[in-house]
Amino acid sequence: MKKILVTGGAGFIGSHLVRLLVKKYPDTLFVNLDLLTYAGNLANLTDIQDYPNYEFVKGDIVDEEFIMATFDAYQFDGVIHLAAESHVDRSIASPKEFIMTNIVGTVNLLNAARFYWKDKYEGKRFYHVSTDEVYGSLGDEGKFMETTPYDPRSPYSASKASSDHLVRAYHHTYGLPVVISNCSNNYGPNQFPEKLIPLIINNIRHSKPLPVYGQGTNIRDWLYVEDHAKAIDLIYEKGVDGETYNIGGNNERQNIDIVKTLCRIIDRQLGRPEGESEKLITYVKDRAGHDLRYAIDATKIYENLGWQPEVQFNDGFEKTVAWYLENEKWLDEVTSGNYLKYYEKMYRDR
Ligand code: NAD
Ligand code: TYD
Repeated sequence: MKKILVTGGAGFIGSHLVRLLVKKYPDTLFVNLDLLTYAGNLANLTDIQDYPNYEFVKGDIVDEEFIMATFDAYQFDGVIHLAAESHVDRSIASPKEFIMTNIVGTVNLLNAARFYWKDKYEGKRFYHVSTDEVYGSLGDEGKFMETTPYDPRSPYSASKASSDHLVRAYHHTYGLPVVISNCSNNYGPNQFPEKLIPLIINNIRHSKPLPVYGQGTNIRDWLYVEDHAKAIDLIYEKGVDGETYNIGGNNERQNIDIVKTLCRIIDRQLGRPEGESEKLITYVKDRAGHDLRYAIDATKIYENLGWQPEVQFNDGFEKTVAWYLENEKWLDEVTSGNYLKYYEKMYRDR
């Protein structure tokens, strides 16, 4: 049986990907290796936990011995690497964990793949999942292409850029068969409510202020998470070794528009008077070094592999809001305990 290691499979994007893969490829064993940090949650995967081609292993990619022992035990044919510290604000407050997990952790996985594949790369693949934030910040014009020079500007994006470079270096130096994708902002069910969309939904639910950084005019390109998972599956199966693919939603929005849209949808879905939630919008101190605009040119993945987003923004947003409102228990659980301390610290002085 073919065996694929997915790291970070209990997180937001990872859980959608693992669910897709486990159901689609019953003859492949998927091992989900995840440390279950604050962002990892096995409740995201209850529907597949008993599938015979799925296993969960709890562990830290920074722990070199553990990673080597796990490769030794399973003899993986492939790796899809998503485990990361992923939140920009946390990286500004505390960069070190980002260096450890995103850079050192990635190198541990690269070394293990190299060691156990012993230069016999037939049928093997190391897929590194990355972000468009490595390209820096755009002005009003232009889009990120695969050829855009790297210009990371937050500790998070610098750590991801570093890991991307290392993955490419292992390809050029040792011939490791790698693929990389750089994707824009994802939204959808199961996202930890430190990120803009679930944080706003959760705050509206509790009639708490909705913190909009700066003027709310920064722009992100939003993609529904299941479309990202489908792109990863396609690239893993059909991508070309050594290549990079940009993935985007072709769906640029200013943050303030995102927040207002969420207010409107939630007021309607909860039967609240129109305009009620918008009153909660509060402009707060801007994020340090806040990137102005991200936008992806996804021509390459469209022309070479035939991928394009399937979920329209309006449908995706309706579905996403409905999921959080129907899964209040999930939200309540992840926003208790340490979340309250995080929120207080991150938003107190804004
Ligand atoms: P997430 O924060 O929701 O999940 C990260 C997962 O990694 C969690 O399950 C966590 O427990 C696990 N993890 C963290 N440190 C670990 C460690 N040391 N060892 C093992 N597991 C560890 O992140 P996400 O939003 O699902 O992002 C997944 C990947 O996709 C990341 O590499 C991120 O850089 C990339 N990405 C995210 C987005 C986005 O919009 N969220 C966009 C593009 C790329
Ligand atoms: P975020 O979800 O943290 O993703 P990223 O920083 O990786 O793009 O933030 C998305 C945008 O929303 C970003 O421009 C920062 C902004 N933002 C707010 O205005 N308020 C908030 O409380 C958060 C978390 C983000």
